[in-house]
Amino acid sequence: MLQDDIRHLKKIKDAIILAHYYQNAEVQDVADFVGDSLELSRIAATTDAKVIVFCGVNFMAETAKILSPNKKVLLPVQEAKCPMAMMISSSQLEAYKKAHPNRIIICYVNSYADVKALSDICVTSSNAEKIITAYKDQPMLYIPDKNLGMYLKDKYHYDIDLWPGFCCIHNRLTAKMVDKMKKQYPNALFLVHPEAPLAVSKSADFVGSTKQIIDYAFHSPALEFIIGTEKGILHPLEKANPNKTFHILTPDLACFDMKLTSLDDVYNSLKNDNYEITVPEGIRLKAYESLRKMLEMS
Ligand code: 13P
Ligand code: SF4
Repeated sequence: MLQDDIRHLKKIKDAIILAHYYQNAEVQDVADFVGDSLELSRIAATTDAKVIVFCGVNFMAETAKILSPNKKVLLPVQEAKCPMAMMISSSQLEAYKKAHPNRIIICYVNSYADVKALSDICVTSSNAEKIITAYKDQPMLYIPDKNLGMYLKDKYHYDIDLWPGFCCIHNRLTAKMVDKMKKQYPNALFLVHPEAPLAVSKSADFVGSTKQIIDYAFHSPALEFIIGTEKGILHPLEKANPNKTFHILTPDLACFDMKLTSLDDVYNSLKNDNYEITVPEGIRLKAYESLRKMLEMS
């Protein structure tokens, strides 16, 4: 069986498999750890394994390499890229910084190493609220997700400039979709990721990262939920809560890039070292600082 072959190769190679909650269910099931961006970067920073197979998109594997430069980090599908991370370049950020030298640059981990290297600190959707609060008296720029930035700005009223990037999956969600689902399931609580537009976050019973949504659903006495994030999350939600019902806000809530990775790709990655992630050392050291500060403050 392919799963057994993967486990066998993993032992021989001294590898661990990390998978994001948005991965296909069979990939999550073969992973050593399944988590959100923050949890997975913590594991990448501390694992003893020689090889990290990162089932996610390339900025996540790159983050693992920045944190663990002596490990071999593999991304099973080379084309798995987050479109949001491509919505800001280092030259654009350099130009912004020249024009606004006093703004603290708060960088969502959904970004590339050269952009992290120019930033003051990184955040994920799990720790962004805590980290921006530490800078509350200073002007900030939040890159690259305008929706998460807007959510933070609206909640805390800090001086935050926004970059016009977005997640094409969450940005499609509308308050109208929420109304329709709430009418259909009046007892259900609505849980949403902060990459959704503000009007959608405002209509939610809970806003949080993937891991925070999973924890909320687990501890809540409610038995029915409407879920406003990528549908891979249904797998861990249903596994941990067999007595509860989960409705995805809209059936097309699937991240094309997250869904590219198959079990065959994981096997080939372990067998042939597909595809090794590298980061130039000068950039890595600066990006590491932004990530190190984030992990220290989380
Ligand atoms: P998390 O930080 O919740 O893992 O989210 C990452 C992501 O890509 C959401 O679209
Ligand atoms: Fe990027 Fe959105 Fe996919 Fe997350 S769900 S990896 S932000 S495109």
